[in-house]
Amino acid sequence: MIKPTNGLVRVAALSDIHYAKTSAGLMAPLFSEIAETADVLLLGGDLTDYGAPEEARILAKDLAQVKIPVVAVLGNHDFEGDQQEEIARILGDVGVHMLDGDTWEFRGVGFAGIRGFCGGFGRGALGPWGEKIIKAFVHEAVQEALKLEAALARLETQHRIVLMHYAPIRDTVEGEPLEIFPFLGSSRLEDPLSRFQVTAVFHGHAHKGTPEGKTQTGIPVFNVAHAVLRHSYPDRPPFRLFEVQTGDTAEPGVTPIADRRQYGRRATDRADQGS
Ligand SMILES: [Fe+2]
Ligand SMILES: [Fe+2]
Repeated sequence: MIKPTNGLVRVAALSDIHYAKTSAGLMAPLFSEIAETADVLLLGGDLTDYGAPEEARILAKDLAQVKIPVVAVLGNHDFEGDQQEEIARILGDVGVHMLDGDTWEFRGVGFAGIRGFCGGFGRGALGPWGEKIIKAFVHEAVQEALKLEAALARLETQHRIVLMHYAPIRDTVEGEPLEIFPFLGSSRLEDPLSRFQVTAVFHGHAHKGTPEGKTQTGIPVFNVAHAVLRHSYPDRPPFRLFEVQTGDTAEPGVTPIADRRQYGRRATDRADQGS
C-alpha cells in the first residue's frame, strides 16, 4: 500500500476499544491494517474495560507492534480501578503519546488531547449552583475545558486536531437514550474548539451515538467509538481515516476517506472522487 507524503497526513481514529484480560491479540490485525494506510493512529479513551493495569499491559503488547505513532487519551473506564496513572505509564512505555492537556505535533499537524467530562449540553447543562458536590462536578468539566484551552494555545501548527473521550456537542450522542445525555459529554468542552479554530475533533464514549456532527461554529466532530463505527459502517473496518492537507495551498479541514478500496490509493487518483 502507498502512503502519500506530499503534504498529506493520514489520520486514523478509533475509540472505546475496551481491552479486557481476554483481549490479547484481539485488535492486532486491525492495528496492522491501520498502520499500512495511516500515518498516525488516534485512540479516544476507554482503552481498557475495568481500568486494570493488566488490561493495559495486554493492550500495550498489541500496540507495541504498531509501526506508526499512536496518540491516546484516557476514558472513564480507564479510571475505574483508580490506577489511571499506571495505565498511562504502561502505554507510554511502549511509545504511545498519552495526552492529558498535552500536545503532540506531527508534520505540521498539532494534536491536543484531554479526557473531558460530562454535565450536559446547551441550556440543559448543569450549572455550578447549590451543593458543594454539584459545584465540584461542574468544576471538573470546566477544568478539562481549561486544560484543552491551554493546550491549544501552545499549538502554532497550521492544523489543530483535538482528541477527547467525552462528547463536546449533543449531535454526536444522538441515538443514546435521552436520559443519559448529560453523562455523555459537556458543552463546556466546545468553547475552546471554536476559539482556536480547531480543524476537527474526535471523541468516543457514546457507544450508541452518531458518527458525525458539527459545533455551533461548523467545526466537524466525529464520534469514533468502536461500537458506533461497527453499527454505522458495517461494510468497513472499524476505524475512520482522514486526510489532512498541509502546506501553503492546503485547503482547511479534514477529508474523510470513506471507502476501504480507496485506502491504499494515491491522493492524485482520488482527486475527482467524493468521500
Ligand atoms: Fe466506552
Ligand atoms: Fe466511556
